[in-house]
Amino acid sequence: RTITWTPLMAEKGGYRHFMLKEIYEQPRAMADTLAGRIREEAGDIYLEDLNLDDETLRSMDKVNIVACGTSWHAGLVGKFLAEKLARVPVEVDIASEFRYRDPIVTPRTLTVLISQSGETADTLAGLREAKGKGGKVVSICNVVDSSIARESDGVIYTHAGPEIGVASTKAFTTQLVALVLFACKLGRVRGTLDENECRLLGEELVKLPRKIEEALEQDAAIEEVAKLYMNASDFLYLGRGNQYPIALEGALKLKEISYIHAEGYPAGEMKHGPIALIDEHLPVVVLLPNNETREKVISNMQEVRARAGQVIAITDLDDSLVRDNADHVLTFPGIRDELMPVVLSVPMQLLAYHIAVLKGTDVDQPRNLAKSVTVE
Ligand code: G6P
Repeated sequence: RTITWTPLMAEKGGYRHFMLKEIYEQPRAMADTLAGRIREEAGDIYLEDLNLDDETLRSMDKVNIVACGTSWHAGLVGKFLAEKLARVPVEVDIASEFRYRDPIVTPRTLTVLISQSGETADTLAGLREAKGKGGKVVSICNVVDSSIARESDGVIYTHAGPEIGVASTKAFTTQLVALVLFACKLGRVRGTLDENECRLLGEELVKLPRKIEEALEQDAAIEEVAKLYMNASDFLYLGRGNQYPIALEGALKLKEISYIHAEGYPAGEMKHGPIALIDEHLPVVVLLPNNETREKVISNMQEVRARAGQVIAITDLDDSLVRDNADHVLTFPGIRDELMPVVLSVPMQLLAYHIAVLKGTDVDQPRNLAKSVTVE
């Protein structure tokens, strides 16, 4: 028997879609993004193209993160990281808002642009706005020598490799990794992160590719849940703290490729609106890492269930407390809390992917969307 491979099939490496291939490439993409950047002995981080000396980095009194779409979600996680590890105030903006707002940028403001393509028109305009005001500019890009990378003072490249699927997956998780590295670097320079803590974080980062491999082993379990809810007309995604942006990202992935309406919300804010939507037809995806807000999130789950909503819990601790308060429990490997957003991104991607495939949509080229938006 001969198998005839078309060039397109070969490019997809045997996967049904580029998106799935790219989801599965994440362990490697992550390892490549980390390669050579963790100085374990020195308890420090090395970012080869950062181009800003320690003194300049130390003098920054504010960080603006500016991006669009999925990259903006990475920026929201970046705020948690930089504020925690470097104790510097961080503002996160959508580029199309930032550019027209006459943003406050001084020579002591560091603006961080995040862009997979490095060509998004609004993000590039945001960069020019920040530079024009005399600020320093660093970008996190996946495409070498892209416009945004070229016009920045420094770049942190993600080494995700080419991303073809319109819905961003490996570019997003490698942006998260780049942001951890950057926040560590900033924390070391500013003296808020000591050598030992930085070393410990480095040791955890190195474990990430393996953890992502383990997370991918839940693929079949996620597909089962997808089958049960593929006909829902709305989804709610809830997360707290650094998982709130992952809730937003989960909802965005689902909207983009399955065309199901979905909303991401900070779990604690549910009672101020979305709770009115809950009935037996609303699946609620809850991000539940084992951290200090776990019990708060569990009480949000109870509130959903008291109104007949269906809870799909995504957690790293499967105990009776979760079991008693969820309709479905999907369990993922645990890691330090700073890195949990990376791990829990995987089920967000796979759930959206499987629902889209079941619905028969064009997963890699969803209607009305472009991989890179180079016009305003
Ligand atoms: C488009 C893509 C998204 C992406 C956004 C920002 O909307 O469909 O997947 O997140 O642009 O793109 P960038 O290349 O700047 O990260």
